[in-house]
Amino acid sequence: MRILVTGGAGFIGSHFVRHLAAAGEDVVVLDKLTYSGNPANLEGVAHEFHAGDIADPDAVARAGKGAEAIVNFAAETHVDRSILAAGEFITTDVMGTHVLLEWARESGARFVHVSTDEVYGDLPPGVSSREDDPLRPSSPYAASKAGGDLQVLAYVRTYGVNASITRGSNTYGTHQYPEKMIPLFVTNALEGEPLPVYGDGRQTRDWLHAEDHCAGIETVLREGAPGEVYNVGGGEELENLEVTRRILELTGADPGLVRHVDDRPGHDRRYSLDSSKLAGLGWKPTRGFEEGLAETVAWYRDRRDWWEPIKSGEYRAYYAEQYEARLKST
Ligand code: NAD
Ligand code: DAU
Repeated sequence: MRILVTGGAGFIGSHFVRHLAAAGEDVVVLDKLTYSGNPANLEGVAHEFHAGDIADPDAVARAGKGAEAIVNFAAETHVDRSILAAGEFITTDVMGTHVLLEWARESGARFVHVSTDEVYGDLPPGVSSREDDPLRPSSPYAASKAGGDLQVLAYVRTYGVNASITRGSNTYGTHQYPEKMIPLFVTNALEGEPLPVYGDGRQTRDWLHAEDHCAGIETVLREGAPGEVYNVGGGEELENLEVTRRILELTGADPGLVRHVDDRPGHDRRYSLDSSKLAGLGWKPTRGFEEGLAETVAWYRDRRDWWEPIKSGEYRAYYAEQYEARLKST
């Protein structure tokens, strides 16, 4: 099958391209190569590459020619950046999704839209989100993803587009841009830099290995029904402080590097997914967090050639804006 993977040069998208290429699929990537898109993520992986924006109908039509399916990973993805400036999140996550839907409508291609558990918002202890729960996004990022999801559902109902949505939980693994908590803390620990824990650090996330996330998305691509949403959760709920403790242990870094800094505005305390619907299609996560985190830390320890060049330039400016004042006040 010829499959268009948008955002295929990013973290999860590049795992997915590798996954499909290994299965012998004919993969086309459309990626704008923003700060988090990295051609090095696809080195040695068979694919056809198009540089371009999902919000540009001509770029989508060029890359999508002949594709029978599209899997959309392209997005602005970092909550903290959306709090600093939300404009690009609306352009890509809302408008870009609209352009892709128009293309799927015209071409008749199958469309899988990769979304997030953040659209359900904050959860109290003891409950897990199900696919038909109301959307209560907290951050500009989550709201832009919810906007994309609602368009997908409207295009299925109104135009009969063959689309499904996946909502994944917090994903970790190799090749993740070092702005998200795990790669940021691992690389900072390896450099002897502070680990900035937001607030009390007792927030919980449901951790999912990138390979398990990709297997879930592939299951939905092949077996999912149009108009249906599928949660993809790792089932490994941990407090941020516990993840931090494990990173210190695995890297051998000084526990004194941990700093409790001012909290993220609007910070969701807890996410948790009920993934029984996707389990009904035969999917289940296969990598435990302990083993997956150890393998991820080992990769960052070995691949300084991958992340050291990233932690310069634009990254330094972002880091200063996000953390300088916070770290000074601790
Ligand atoms: P990422 O930031 O690592 O990658 C995003 C990719 O999209 C990059 O390659 C970037 O260049 C590309 N891109 C951005 N804007 C584009 C545009 N306008 N046109 C074309 N390409 C563009 O993100 P990720 O963590 O791999 O997330 C991928 C998808 O999975 C996103 O839709 C995200 O919402 C979703 N998701 C992520 C997680 C997670 O924990 N990382 C969890 C659940 C869902
Ligand atoms: O839940 C899925 C979502 O997971 C995806 O949709 C997003 O694209 C992805 O970025 C991620 O969002 P989070 O905000 O949960 O991930 P992040 O790694 O930024 O933060 C994880 C937790 O760690 C969260 O509670 C905030 C906290 N944190 C994060 C950073 C960057 C800190 O305490 N300090 C930090 O410096």
